[in-house]
Amino acid sequence: MSMNNRSKNNRSVNSRIADFRSYDVAARRAEIVRQTDLTEADIAVYDAADGLTIDQADRMVENVLGVIGIPVGVATNFTINGKDYLIPLATEEPSVVAAASNAARIARGLGGFHASSTQPIMQAQIQLVDVMDPEAARIRLLEAREEIMALANEQDPKLVSVGGGVKDISVRVVSSDQATYVVLHLHVDVRDAMGANAVNTMAEAIADRVSEIGGGHVVLRILTNKADLRLTRVRAVFDAELIGGAEVVDNLIHAARLAELDPYRAATHNKGIMNGISAVVLATGNDTRAVEAGCHSHAVNADGIYSSLSHFEKNADGNIVGTLELPMPVGLVGGATKVHPVAQAAIKMLGVESAEELAGIILAVGLAQNLAAVRVLAGEGVQRGHMGLHARNIAATAGAQKSEIDAVVARLIADKSIRVEHAEKVLAEIRGGN
Ligand code: MEV
Repeated sequence: MSMNNRSKNNRSVNSRIADFRSYDVAARRAEIVRQTDLTEADIAVYDAADGLTIDQADRMVENVLGVIGIPVGVATNFTINGKDYLIPLATEEPSVVAAASNAARIARGLGGFHASSTQPIMQAQIQLVDVMDPEAARIRLLEAREEIMALANEQDPKLVSVGGGVKDISVRVVSSDQATYVVLHLHVDVRDAMGANAVNTMAEAIADRVSEIGGGHVVLRILTNKADLRLTRVRAVFDAELIGGAEVVDNLIHAARLAELDPYRAATHNKGIMNGISAVVLATGNDTRAVEAGCHSHAVNADGIYSSLSHFEKNADGNIVGTLELPMPVGLVGGATKVHPVAQAAIKMLGVESAEELAGIILAVGLAQNLAAVRVLAGEGVQRGHMGLHARNIAATAGAQKSEIDAVVARLIADKSIRVEHAEKVLAEIRGGN
């Protein structure tokens, strides 16, 4: 299988770039321009001064003061459905980009990641209250399925013309001792959009007719972020040898199993997944909160327990098979993805042609991130890896110049003292030639 991916401009993307982390920023940019559809002018938007302008920001939200910078790093080594991708991650957290790249390398030799998705169906809810006969109302609404769908589709002929639009409805009776509600769901194929605008417009437009048919009156008419009809799945085999051998593999499986059983561990395990997912979602200008809400709602298992989103199993060869299935409401059209110049650059770098392709990439990064974190936890623990980065920050805070940082960091780690005062002392010694 070829690991290369031809970009739109027929450039060849090979995400395995030896020693990319030792390149400087200019060299990294040159490599991305060489391999992807981004031009030198496109990639310049990653300079804070050339990114989102104040005027653009002022049109996006209210009471604008300015913009905030978040580092964007490129994850390497990813091959997904036989295609290589160089993936932008926006994150303030050290180790995330390196960890994802590392786990992608561990999966690469065994075929990389395999992603698939359902149709991009988003749902809106219309809530009826004070309905006298909720069960009968449910049946009346289902009888009116064609009429309700047609009325909703009239709101978005463009979506319908590209193969999207309302595909079905469902009706639930949601009740407790205090109240009974009839809740109609519109199931809308939103194609390459995230879909919130499309489904909310439809829900508002049909609400009155729904209450005429069902009875009672309408309160809510809004999309649900539990996008469980818009799922993306990913699987990958991770090489036991590269993971660190049989003992680390067994410990990793124990760690993953605890996350399946115990909400306290599941929350942290899932946070590791979201470290990867939210970073790609943010880098591409998508709605991080919509994705996070959808993912966490999906973490509640059939027994009603908050559990791990991913699964790790050992296969017959002793390798680890990782799987992840999540709602992934992301889009390529509309929202910040369309208006934010840095998000546009991310989409161009990825060379994705559909929201589904982007969703597969996001899931692959989530699974890679998760494997990398749990592997470290099952082995040496996270602090050692963080120590190096922490020491670099401390060295810089103490005033070390670029050429001095490595030497200061090595001393701080050897002395097991990663404190600014000590870094200042070490720096003075180095400068003094001691
Ligand atoms: C830290 O941001 C994420 C981890 O805590 C994830 C995990 O524990 O699996 C390392």
